[in-house]
Amino acid sequence: MTNWCMFAFTPNVDILHMSYMRILSGIQPSGVLHIGNYFGMMRPAIALQAEGEAFYFIADYHALTSVRDPTMLRENSRRVALDFLACGLDPERAALFQQSDVPQVTELAWILSAVAPMGLLERSHSYKDKLARGLAATVGLFNYPVLMAADILIYDSDVVPVGKDQKQHIEITRDLAVKMNETFGSEPDGWIFKLPEPRIQAATEVVPGIDGQKMSKSYGNNIDIFGDEKETRKRVMSIVTDSAPVEAPKDPSGSTIFQLYSLVASKDEVAEVREQFQKGGTGYGEFKKQLFEKLWEHFAPMRKRREEMLADRSYIDNVLARGAERANEVADQVMKRVRSAVGLR
Ligand code: ADP
Ligand code: TRP
Repeated sequence: MTNWCMFAFTPNVDILHMSYMRILSGIQPSGVLHIGNYFGMMRPAIALQAEGEAFYFIADYHALTSVRDPTMLRENSRRVALDFLACGLDPERAALFQQSDVPQVTELAWILSAVAPMGLLERSHSYKDKLARGLAATVGLFNYPVLMAADILIYDSDVVPVGKDQKQHIEITRDLAVKMNETFGSEPDGWIFKLPEPRIQAATEVVPGIDGQKMSKSYGNNIDIFGDEKETRKRVMSIVTDSAPVEAPKDPSGSTIFQLYSLVASKDEVAEVREQFQKGGTGYGEFKKQLFEKLWEHFAPMRKRREEMLADRSYIDNVLARGAERANEVADQVMKRVRSAVGLR
């Protein structure tokens, strides 16, 4: 059932609010943001902020499943806020806040966990991947998707812009929403939660890292959005390629350099570089230099904005405080509905 069908049978939903959608996404402050985060999640989220009411948050409760250094968690959280704002998040349109400023989500996560089937969580790819990477098998890590479902459902979210690796988490969220609606939704309303949709950009669903695998801070193959010039150049120059000699024609489709170049160059520039690849006569080193130039240029206005924001420390605190206030308003309304539906006071 789509959200719109549900509205049709949902007399207690304010008709006026049907005209806009709620957009929500979160990002963990578990490290420094990279261009995979930017193209996969931040840029689509920023583009969507004009299309409805957006809620974007720094998932610090989630980050506790991997970060054990409180100073680092605090610094990273601030840095994520700064970077997101510098990249174009407009606090007049989107509420930006820290997840832990809305502790009601942990209550909702508990309520959801009471109906969440073990088997559903046992099938989580991200849980299995994290164990394979050496993270301890904690209850928090296992429950991660339930807290994420609470994040999404507590704001009556319609659309969730994320990268492809988060798709299964949104599916779990939908399953839990259906389960809650079936278990506790009483006729004629029959409704507690909306079913959110993931919004995944096909062109940027998996941005490759310098080794050609999915870019991720935990794989050490990242190019950071706001890395310094020397480091960024070094990372770009160390992109892994095949050993085709300069004169050989090269296949653009399998090339990490070409894929990253396509994200930051104009259509004409991409067409030109594609031709240079196919024609032969240009070495990978030259293509990497061109990629670095484009990449550096692409983020230049954002670097400038970031510098300006750094000069005013209270700016970010104010943005986060205002965002948290709005998020709390909505979360309190939804929790009232949930508590009443399940029989809590
Ligand atoms: P990481 O893998 O570096 O730890 P996160 O899991 O914190 O990144 O991801 C934050 C957001 O950025 C998610 O929506 C995720 O899907 C997106 N994202 C992360 N890496 C990539 C990538 N390489 N390509 C596309 N999207 C990505
Ligand atoms: N799990 C997401 C990630 O690692 C972060 C996240 C937490 C999130 N809660 C969310 C994303 C709710 C979207 C919606 O990137």
